[in-house]
Amino acid sequence: MSNLIDVRLEALEGRVSPDDATRAADAPTAAGRTFYIETFGCQMNVHDSEKVAGVLLGRGYQQVETPDAAQLVFYNTCSIREKAAQKVFGRLGDVKAAQKAGKTIGVLGCVAQQEGERIFERAPWVSLVCGSASYRKLPELLARIESGDRRVTGLETDTDETFETEITRRDNPFRAYITIIEGCDKACAYCVVPFTRGPERSRASAAVLREARQLADLGYTETQLLGQTVNSYRDPSPRGLRFSELLLAVAEIPGIRRVRFTTSHPSDFHADIVEALDATPALCDHVHLPVQSGSTRVLRAMQRTYTRETYLEKIALIRAARRPISITSDIIVGFPGESEADFEETLSLLDVVQYDGIFSFKYSPRPNTRALSMADPIPEEEKGRRLAVLQEKQRQIQAARNQTLVGQTFEVLVDGQARKPGQWAGRTSSNRVANFTSLRSELLGEYVQVRITSAGPNSLVGEQII
Ligand code: 5AD
Ligand code: SF4
Repeated sequence: MSNLIDVRLEALEGRVSPDDATRAADAPTAAGRTFYIETFGCQMNVHDSEKVAGVLLGRGYQQVETPDAAQLVFYNTCSIREKAAQKVFGRLGDVKAAQKAGKTIGVLGCVAQQEGERIFERAPWVSLVCGSASYRKLPELLARIESGDRRVTGLETDTDETFETEITRRDNPFRAYITIIEGCDKACAYCVVPFTRGPERSRASAAVLREARQLADLGYTETQLLGQTVNSYRDPSPRGLRFSELLLAVAEIPGIRRVRFTTSHPSDFHADIVEALDATPALCDHVHLPVQSGSTRVLRAMQRTYTRETYLEKIALIRAARRPISITSDIIVGFPGESEADFEETLSLLDVVQYDGIFSFKYSPRPNTRALSMADPIPEEEKGRRLAVLQEKQRQIQAARNQTLVGQTFEVLVDGQARKPGQWAGRTSSNRVANFTSLRSELLGEYVQVRITSAGPNSLVGEQII
């Protein structure tokens, strides 16, 4: 870890609000207690783990790198697809003996919320099951375990306590996440998130801006605003900022050079967001706007609240911006009842939109969801075939799109060494990976101009222009 990061973390860890100080006084001292946390799933979960670490570090716990070295072993889990959820039970199997050795095993996150106390039945060596809305209560929950409770849960979802973990730790030294909206009020037929993360709650704009200013003061230049449906944000305070106004306000903070946001829902995506991007260079040239399917019939069955045509109107808004904005998407293949013709419509949508990247998935049946009981399941083999066809088509589109960038120069935020020796790696504002050569020997965290000399489907290659 570089000194720079150490300094920032110390600053973050040292900040305890009066409210926290009272709470800390109530909780038992944890000096010397060690914890390990492994994260599965999306950026929301990555950031949640940072919050958990922040809360525990603020109470005197120490973070360690392996379950072996830890007294508390936490898994922050994902249940978006069955495979992700199963992985957790595999990990729990690995630490079965650890509880006997005096360790506390905790399951956090979406599987915790979804399975609740059933986790204790399946893995009796687990003592803590805690969903994302209850992380501020962790010190109290852990104190109950210390004083002899064998099984402790924190499973409420309707609290907005989660936002105000003032002592959030940041693991990534270059990009700091800020949660602006929690939960989800949409009802997509395939999705567990409304069950695991509860109803939608927006955070007051003043709290978001305060956190963004603190991060800028600590030296972070890039922030990413997070929410399952980030653009459904509605400031609950009297100031009443719209999402686009919040974007502008964050981008105005001195020291912040890049602002990203994810994930946008097409139904809540309007012209004002594109106008904000156009007006403000600090807002990155990238919108992640998951379509899920190119067929209106399937979109209806998915309860996605838009059609192929209205989705394409949103794409047209973005394409009409004064600067090129990269567009990425999530796509599910093999939703129940998806015909070959429906799938062809998804393929043709790729042609029309020309995405710069997609995340694509085979439909996975999930507990509690509407789609679970839908007729006409697609065989796994056929889902696999469709996924392969889709990914190959997108690979070709990306290769061609990236090729058009050769010869152009982009600003890159350098975040590491490339796999190829002698090359640096970073991201453009459009979120493309750029690997490049430079005559300089220390570039981490810097913004540099890179001229693109060649391109593949997944990354650009270039050289620094001084
Ligand atoms: N099966 C497959 N993919 C899913 N996603 C959400 N739920 C499911 C599911 N049951 C995908 C969607 C979403 C992304 C985060 O995960 O594409 O946008
Ligand atoms: Fe993130 Fe969704 Fe997985 Fe939960 S279920 S960890 S919100 S991707």
